[in-house]
Amino acid sequence: METNLAFVANEHRYDDADTIYARCGLSGVLLPRLSLGFWHNFGGNDPFERSRAITRYAFDHGITHFDLANNYGPPYGSAEETLGRLMDEDFHPYRDELFIATKAGYDMWPGPYGNWGSRKYLMASLDQSLKRMHLDYVDLFYSHRYDPNTPLEETLQALVDIVRAGKALYIGISRWPLQALKRADEYLRERDVPLLIYQGRLNLLDREPMDEGILDYCDRHGIGFISFSPLAQGLLTDRYLNGIPADSRMAQGRFLKEDRLTPELMQYLLQLKTEAEVCGHSMAEHALRWILDQPGITSVLVGASSTEQLAKNLQCLTI
Ligand SMILES: NC(=O)c1ccc[n+]([C@@H]2O[C@H](COP(=O)([O-])OP(=O)(O)OC[C@H]3O[C@@H](n4cnc5c(N)ncnc54)[C@H](OP(=O)(O)O)[C@@H]3O)[C@@H](O)[C@H]2O)c1
Repeated sequence: METNLAFVANEHRYDDADTIYARCGLSGVLLPRLSLGFWHNFGGNDPFERSRAITRYAFDHGITHFDLANNYGPPYGSAEETLGRLMDEDFHPYRDELFIATKAGYDMWPGPYGNWGSRKYLMASLDQSLKRMHLDYVDLFYSHRYDPNTPLEETLQALVDIVRAGKALYIGISRWPLQALKRADEYLRERDVPLLIYQGRLNLLDREPMDEGILDYCDRHGIGFISFSPLAQGLLTDRYLNGIPADSRMAQGRFLKEDRLTPELMQYLLQLKTEAEVCGHSMAEHALRWILDQPGITSVLVGASSTEQLAKNLQCLTI
């Protein structure tokens, strides 16, 4: 298979830069409007060559932003190990062209220091992540979730100190409620480590960040917003219109359960399909474009189990 040959990136990967990149809030950072997530399909149990092909395809098409977390796999940590191998074998010459994010906040190792938002956990977790990814620093480090039992200032100061120590260039938060987002914005701004980006689930089936005022707050305060699971894990594509394919995420039954496919949802999906067809789009393109057209959106953070899916999803940028 050709993927064993040394990787030389497509020389035309930045030809469509005007279409592909958007400024992240009011920062100096441009991010691709479609970014690649490593939650599924990059773990130790997934075929490495497929993960490699997807990553190469992404980079060859200007997708410079890869999103990871300490516990992506399975097993935990293995998606970061996959990235580490890819950095060694393919992407080492391109490190400065990549914007790599990781996170800590969910269950990672046993005992009281391997979860949530303490300074102890965040510091140790990022050190582990850097080792697994064979990186000296990440471009972006996130608090993966709000911790109601740790003082907000402890989490935020740990993030500031991580930047000051040169282990991350920028800070993000994911799934924090609005009031905590506001406090984080103030705290980080006062310490000259402004919040770069908020990561939240926003798609046609889940509009919470809009309804809660989070997207609007980010937009008004110069903070970028990246939407995770923009295709609702595949529901907003044609994947489940004719049953549950054996190789699909739903068939794995871990994070996407069969009971999501209610008659009401099926009816909605068929309506979406018709709407998309009228516009000459696939369902996935239609769903991604809807997000990208909302004010304040920097990027949609997609997953893919094949290069074909990624190729199709990239079409949403040219609509
Ligand atoms: N911050 C957080 O708490 C959080 C939570 C979740 C995710 N994330 C981030 O967001 C990223 C994306 O999440 P996600 O994987 O749920 O995103 P998604 O884009 O909503 O779903 C991706 C899945 O949809 C299916 N799919 C994608 N394109 C398709 C197409 N064109 N046609 C048919 N099926 C298609 C594939 O499923 P099959 O496997 O069935 O082919 C693919 O694995 C993650 O990797 C992670 O980086 C963050």
